Order: sequence, then C-alpha cells, then structure tokens
Amino acid sequence: MKILVTGGLGFIGSHTVCELLKENYEVVVADNLSNSSIDVIDKIKTITGKEIVFYNCDVCIEESLEEIFKKEQIDAVIHFAAYKAVGESVSNPIMYYENNLISTIKVCKVMKKYNVKRFVFSSSATVYGSPKTLPIKEDFPLSTTNPYGTTKLMNEKILEDICLSDSDFSVVILRYFNPIGAHESGLIGENPKGIPNNLMPYIVRVANKELKELSVFGNDYNTHDGTGVRDYIHVVDLAKGHIKAIEKATNSTGVNIYNLGTGTGYSVLDLVETFKKVNNIDVPYKIVDRRPGDIAECYADPTKAYEELGWKAELGIEDMCKDSYNFILKQNKK
Ligand SMILES: NC(=O)c1ccc[n+]([C@@H]2O[C@H](COP(=O)([O-])OP(=O)(O)OC[C@H]3O[C@@H](n4cnc5c(N)ncnc54)[C@H](O)[C@@H]3O)[C@@H](O)[C@H]2O)c1
Repeated sequence: MKILVTGGLGFIGSHTVCELLKENYEVVVADNLSNSSIDVIDKIKTITGKEIVFYNCDVCIEESLEEIFKKEQIDAVIHFAAYKAVGESVSNPIMYYENNLISTIKVCKVMKKYNVKRFVFSSSATVYGSPKTLPIKEDFPLSTTNPYGTTKLMNEKILEDICLSDSDFSVVILRYFNPIGAHESGLIGENPKGIPNNLMPYIVRVANKELKELSVFGNDYNTHDGTGVRDYIHVVDLAKGHIKAIEKATNSTGVNIYNLGTGTGYSVLDLVETFKKVNNIDVPYKIVDRRPGDIAECYADPTKAYEELGWKAELGIEDMCKDSYNFILKQNKK
C-alpha cells in the first residue's frame, strides 16, 4: 500500500514515515521544507534502512499535486502539512487560513480526481477550546480561541462535508494532545527555528544554555502545583497511532474522530522537574504572569482510540524528557 504523507519531513510526519516504513508501507512524501530540512530524508533512511520517494512540493498547488498522483499509485493520504504556531496565526491569520485550508482542499480535490478515498487528518486538542469538564471526550463541544485552531475546526468541517457528499470516502481525524519527545536514535525530533513557542523545545534550549531561563506562565491556576496541566504524548506513540488510523480509514467509510493523548495530565513544573532528574541537568525558571488565552488543564480521554483502533500510548514522561534532550545533544554534536 502506498501512502502520500504531506508534511512528511516535519516533526510528527518524519516519525510517522519511520513507523510506516517499519510496517512495510511504501511512502511518498510531499513537503515544501517551509518548516523542515532536506537532511531528514537521510536520517529516515539511516533509521529504517528504507527509501522514500520525495517531492519538494507546495501542496496548495494543484498542478504539483497532480504530478504526484499521475506518477504514483497513491492508495491513501496522511495530511500533516500546515502551519502550527498559535501566536503567528494571531498576527498573520491570512497566511494560516491560506496554507491550512487551501492545502486540504487541493489535496482532497486531486484525491477525488484520482479516485483515492482514504484520508487521515492532523487535528488538535485546541478544537475543544476551554472544556467545561475533564478528561476530554471526542463528543465535547468544539470552539476555538485563535486562527490556527479555527483552521483545524474548519478543516474538520470540510472533511465531514466531503464524506457526506461521497459515501465511499473515509476520513480519520486525529486530535493530538501535546506531542513531545523524539526518536530514540536522536536523529529526528523537534528543532523549531527561532525562539520556541512550545514548552519542551524551550526547556531543552534552557538546559543547553542557549536560552537563559524558562518563563512559567502563572502558578495560580487551580491545579496541584498552580501551573498549567497538559497531556504530553511521546511523538513515537503518536506516530504509531497513524498506522492504526490508516488501517481504520482502509476498513471504513465516513468520518471517524479520535483523541490521541495519554489520558494523564502533567503540570509545567512536573515536566521541568522530571527533565532535570532524568537528564541530570539544571533548568532555571522564573514564574511570570499568566499568558492570555491559556487554560488551566487539558487532558484526553483516549478510551475511544483504544476501543476502536487498539491504540494506546506506551511511553511515559521520563522517556519524553530523555529523548527530547538526547535529540538536541546529537544535533549539537554534528
Ligand atoms: N506539534 C504539535 O504540537 C501539534 C499539535 C496538534 C496538531 N498538530 C498538527 O500536526 C501536523 C504536523 O505538525 P508538526 O508538529 O509535525 O509540524 P511541522 O511544522 O514540524 O511539520 C509540518 C510540515 O509541513 C510542511 N508544510 C507546511 N505547509 C506546507 C505546504 N503548503 N506544502 C507542503 N509542505 C508544507 C513543513 O515544511 C513541515 O515539514 C500539523 O498539521 C499541525 O498543525 C501539531
């Protein structure tokens, strides 16, 4: 079975490509390198001993996609390609709506033309807005607080409408919680350009003395230590969820939606303390004001993914902290 992976050189995409190759899928990657590097192709080869077919392609451009579908016999698509920085989406919403919506529309349009009807979509826990209760189930009310989140919700709606119009089409929507960690080889991981927006890449850079200290946004939330609680999930567990999603998309029609999280929440300080302990390194931090728009707690109920896909997260917070740091140490040794 041949899978087109859009955004397949990015953080989650590259780990998923490794899992797909491990399971003997053929993989075609389309990525425009807007947030990734061409070296990832060699690293995937070193990890898996297998080759991928790569197209340096903007998936918003229909003609470029057509070229791929003409040459390759694609059976299914996993669509990661998108911009993902919440703050940037607030300051540049047009860029986010353009890339994150047009990419999905064009990919689906070309899929329809070439009669490819299996689609897995990267959504996010951000579509739950500020949940009234926890843990979060898939049927909770949806709302968003920033343009990035709105692009995810709009994409979900577009995909539902496509399935309503075509009873053979199959979409699996995966709502990720907070992916961190890296491949155990230390060859692939998350290495954002500029100052990181997310907690783990920031912690890693403070530990590595590239940044002075971590700012913890608020310690007066109603949580066990006052800092924000999130459901961190190891990126390799998340990647494995996509194998199950492809199987589901192959064996069903219509839209199926799953939370991919561990079901356990950890606070900012839990993460910092675990990171310090497992890597035996200091992470200086200071408490600052809450950040507007942040919620106190967010964690998944992943039962549906376990019952219907047979998937559950296996790696713990210590593995996540160890692997995130190992990746950065390996990067710096090059
Ligand atoms: N990382 C997270 O915390 C998180 C959480 C929830 C959902 N998601 C979603 O998961 C997906 C993957 O996230 P990630 O963390 O791997 O991000 P990433 O930025 O590392 O990967 C995205 C990849 O898509 C590519 N890309 C972007 N626009 C493109 C386009 N128009 N054409 C071709 N390639 C394009 C980028 O070059 C990059 O390689 C995204 O859709 C993101 O919104 C991520």
